[in-house]
Amino acid sequence: MRTQVGIVGAGPAGLMLSHLLALQGIESVVIEARSRQYCEDRVRAGVLEQGTVDLLNETGVGERMQLQGLLHHGIELGFDRRRHRIDMTKLTGRAVTVYGQHEVVRDLIAARLKAGGQLFFEAENASVYALDSERPMVRYEVGGVAQQLECDFIAGCDGFHGICRPSAPEGVFQVYERVYPFGWLGILAEAAPSQEELVYMNHERGFALFSMRSPTVTRLYLQCDPAEDLKEWPDERVWQELQTRLTCDDGWRPNEGRILQKSVTPMRSFVTEPMQYGRLFLAGDSAHIVPPTGAKGMNLAISDVRVLAEGLAGFYKAGRSDLLARYSDVCLRRIWKVQRFSWWMTSMLHQFPDASPFDQRRQRAELDYVTSSAAAAKSLAENYVGLPMEHLL
Ligand code: FAD
Ligand code: DHB
Repeated sequence: MRTQVGIVGAGPAGLMLSHLLALQGIESVVIEARSRQYCEDRVRAGVLEQGTVDLLNETGVGERMQLQGLLHHGIELGFDRRRHRIDMTKLTGRAVTVYGQHEVVRDLIAARLKAGGQLFFEAENASVYALDSERPMVRYEVGGVAQQLECDFIAGCDGFHGICRPSAPEGVFQVYERVYPFGWLGILAEAAPSQEELVYMNHERGFALFSMRSPTVTRLYLQCDPAEDLKEWPDERVWQELQTRLTCDDGWRPNEGRILQKSVTPMRSFVTEPMQYGRLFLAGDSAHIVPPTGAKGMNLAISDVRVLAEGLAGFYKAGRSDLLARYSDVCLRRIWKVQRFSWWMTSMLHQFPDASPFDQRRQRAELDYVTSSAAAAKSLAENYVGLPMEHLL
């Protein structure tokens, strides 16, 4: 089989890239290891920056999001059992939309299939070859039968554990990494959110986050050990810990309900430089990971592929290779700023096991400052709603 762009991975990055390319008349094939149902049901991120929302709307895949997405004009930061509102719209004129990542994935899969796009699910043992040639290749198996895909370019959209990044020769990619001494235990609960906006809570027993997915489903997270065993977290213990950390002096607390899903996510900051080797381009989690505080992972994946699609359109439509050559540098400028923000939010809100009394007081001062200074709140809001998207042109 032959195509212009071979895409490994049907997460938000791979699907959005395929969609953007199709709108420019560029052919692609998406190879995904998991089943369609697995990809469509995988519970992950939930907050879309305004730039992501605008892109989904402008490219015709925002219909369900407009109906079901929840527009949020502010967030709350909590400490000392009190919540402090950051009014993002007043500070920046922009807002975010709460809409699950798996819903975005569903919308993109539906749009690609409707347009006759080629998506291969349950494609096993994928590998990539001849990356420094003009005919790179993807090999994989479907139902035990070997397949070969010849391409002009390969987009490695296969997430942090994918095969594309490790396929470049040793030493091509420089990695910058920080692993945090904690993770997040996340639950999805059949319970009406007890208020309309998210609450990021700093608590002496550890961070907690109150979020939601719909008027009937609450999403909640607890700072935990990165190797936490879920068997030690029966539902009653999860609720007890959430109530302890989130309940405020004014009586506000999350509503409880049946727990639909429970998982533990370790946390790291990770950047690969550059994001290109020959005709392999990395995008999304395959190139970088942010800790989830601030909800940037999926948004970054979308902003990468927007730039990559511009570069590929420049190549096919105007015969320009210079735009693709700048892909990595242009993306990394935004990625590092988002890394900084995610690290900062994480540092401000979590308990660090090695924190000294000095560190603890400095963290408290940071929370006090950001919730009492309009200038500091504006900086948080500007980053939270999303820094401007980068462009190649
Ligand atoms: P992914 O969504 O990881 O997609 C990669 C795709 O490639 C997957 O479908 C995978 O199956 C496929 N793949 C992998 N290897 C192969 C292979 N060899 N062959 C073929 N296909 C392959 N962000 C937030 O902002 N908030 C959150 O609450 C949040 N929670 C998260 C929870 C978890 C468990 C994880 C892992 C991430 C979470 N994130 C969160 C981050 C966010 O979901 C990611 O940043 C986002 O999914 C990145 O999209 P992507 O398309 O780059 O990668
Ligand atoms: C959600 C996840 C985040 O990482 C975050 O900062 C806010 C909300 C969520 O899954 O709803």
